Amino acid sequence: MLEHVFTALRSRQGEWVSGEGLSRELSISRSAVWKHVSTLRRQGYGIESSPRKGYRLTRAPGLLSPREIRMGLDTRVFGRKEIFISKETDSTNTQALMLASQGAPEGTLVAAESQSRGRGRRGRTWFSPPGKGLYLSIVLRPGIPPARAPALTLIAGLAAVEALRRLYPGLGARIRWPNDVMINNRKAGGILTEIAGDMDEVGSAVTGLGLNVDFREFPPELQNRATSLALETGRSADRASLARCFLEIYESYWGSFIRGSTEPLFERWRKLSLSLGRQVTVETSAGIVSGVALDIGEDGSLLVRDSQGRVHNVFSGDLRFQDGNSC
Ligand code: BTN
Repeated sequence: MLEHVFTALRSRQGEWVSGEGLSRELSISRSAVWKHVSTLRRQGYGIESSPRKGYRLTRAPGLLSPREIRMGLDTRVFGRKEIFISKETDSTNTQALMLASQGAPEGTLVAAESQSRGRGRRGRTWFSPPGKGLYLSIVLRPGIPPARAPALTLIAGLAAVEALRRLYPGLGARIRWPNDVMINNRKAGGILTEIAGDMDEVGSAVTGLGLNVDFREFPPELQNRATSLALETGRSADRASLARCFLEIYESYWGSFIRGSTEPLFERWRKLSLSLGRQVTVETSAGIVSGVALDIGEDGSLLVRDSQGRVHNVFSGDLRFQDGNSC
């Protein structure tokens, strides 16, 4: 019943909701309503009360919570069953991989207020200070051949960019191959996909999303390359809404990907890509590839034509632009 009282107040945040109306609507006594309101207050919600008007939710606690993420979440699987949120963890990807190895179902969500060992791609550290970013990971059960795995990351990056474009249409978020979330040519977020399985099949995978939400400053090494929603919009953002929007879009893309209907997703990826048609250098584990980024392949690889006209399929690496607009 606590959750019903919460939903009634949260969905009409800022408006007065009559105590009598609530008790009728939920078939509970007025003193039960009052008890639930007291519990919510103890959990950090600011709720005013007036004998004539009822209750009014004025402030939700800044912390991410399963309840805030689930409120109005329109998914069937992602974030539906288990949501684990901690104040601090080593890495939400590490935790999600562990849960996946213990049989956690697809859609299990792990998030944290901060990460002590947040990981980025290619062994880098992901800057994860408390309360300022969105750090979340989702358990997936793809059952696809390993050759299709790089596309997982592309689709998650696309979903993150689409979520930002839906919530912040004015920011014009774009993708830098393979999966960097870019705003005004600076990195605002990224995706780390990690897989487990055998040679024939990717049994489980974890997609981790890191978004710079409320950062006002960055460590010196990131200062000229990174940005955040707070810096771009001048205000704080609601991390639960961002998480919800990402989960909804990603789940729908995920369904298309699993059904093999990838072309519309790739088409959209091409439209939102900052990389295609540009002179790039990609640093891969096997060396450097320079040339024009032509397209992406079915498998998510980047096709780069070098100065001798040879086309390389690049599966992973760090991309830099060579045409003056580098970041
Ligand atoms: C990158 O661009 O290098 C990928 C960054 C991915 C960071 C996220 S934060 C949540 C999840 N947990 C991690 O340790 N990493 C990912």
